[in-house]
Amino acid sequence: MKQKLFDKFAELFGSADGARFYFSPGRVNLIGEHTDYNGGHVFPCALTMGTYGAARKRDDRLVHFYSMNLDKFGVVEASLDDLTNKKAYNWANYPLGVVWAFAEKGHPIETGFDMVIWGNIPNGSGLSSSASLEVLTGVILTDLFGITDLTMTDLALIGQYSENNFSGCNCGIMDQFAVAMGKKDNAIFLDTNTMNYEYAPIHLEDAKIVITNSKVKHSLVDSAYNDRRRECTEALAALKTRLDINALGDLTPEEFEANKTLISDPIQLKRAKHAVYENQRTIDAVAALKDGDIEKFGQLMNQSHTSLRDDYEVSCEEIDILVDLAWKIPGVIGSRITGGGFGGCTVSIVKNDAVDRFISEIGRIYSEKVGHEAEFYTVDIGDGASRID
Ligand code: GLA
Repeated sequence: MKQKLFDKFAELFGSADGARFYFSPGRVNLIGEHTDYNGGHVFPCALTMGTYGAARKRDDRLVHFYSMNLDKFGVVEASLDDLTNKKAYNWANYPLGVVWAFAEKGHPIETGFDMVIWGNIPNGSGLSSSASLEVLTGVILTDLFGITDLTMTDLALIGQYSENNFSGCNCGIMDQFAVAMGKKDNAIFLDTNTMNYEYAPIHLEDAKIVITNSKVKHSLVDSAYNDRRRECTEALAALKTRLDINALGDLTPEEFEANKTLISDPIQLKRAKHAVYENQRTIDAVAALKDGDIEKFGQLMNQSHTSLRDDYEVSCEEIDILVDLAWKIPGVIGSRITGGGFGGCTVSIVKNDAVDRFISEIGRIYSEKVGHEAEFYTVDIGDGASRID
């Protein structure tokens, strides 16, 4: 991969002398969905799929971005003297937004740089190709410009800041955090209220994590995401009229049940119920994993899906078909929608000896019912973003 990127780099920018090489993963969330902006827990892991980058400093104030996945955009050029989101920059608004966010956070970049990327995370699949690119850019900037006082958590927060304020998606912290802090063979149990986290080893001796890409992305993703956030904020405000809490994640399911009549709007009630119960499921799932009770972990994944489908209403027909089919296959420990929703991927834990059947049977029935093929990735859990030498 390095050679491929460096060859392209040399072709575009004269030579690859002095260019450095980097990798930033995608992520999959095992459980804890739509809890990260509600002060709850999440349990994602970084993947070995991700975004590779080659980069080198320049002497002037120009920044150049080139994606080997999106050659048709050519080299996108911007200036450090005009860090604004422009439609013509297309995908390059993600790395440019991080340059902007560095300046906003007191780390202006003094000279330009050239950057070539190539990634193998399917775009729009809900496996965080954008967070991967944001954190990749953060790692490149700190490394090229010798910025030593930013931690990987800071780079995650800067990535989220740029996504919220430069790219216009009001996402939570989960994706950038998982990409920045990932650890091989571990998932990350993050409390988004305190930002405390711990790694939990995932030792699935006789099972695999299988991601199924529905290859649909419904257009309402961004607007519906922001609607869900608003509905949760409104539900929280209703609860706060009597309760001293800061986030839905502060409530146990019992406390929620005892106070839920404070929420008069039935939609807000369903959204809040999901946020509270999903947070508890995530805590319970990590406990089950520590106890070696993978069956319970799987049941909690299944319950998570039902709640996302019925109460949070972020699933869709294609995803429900995938999950329903998965649930029927012997050897499937758990299966659910993962990521923001309205298409994208499911995540399943599947016994080794059931993986072939899982892929062939679901693949066949899905394409019969939906009219296009699903894609399957049997994934490994990898490390967070870094420079690679
Ligand atoms: C998207 C967002 C995350 C998180 C998930 C849902 O991936 O970027 O912050 O809210 O949706 O869990």
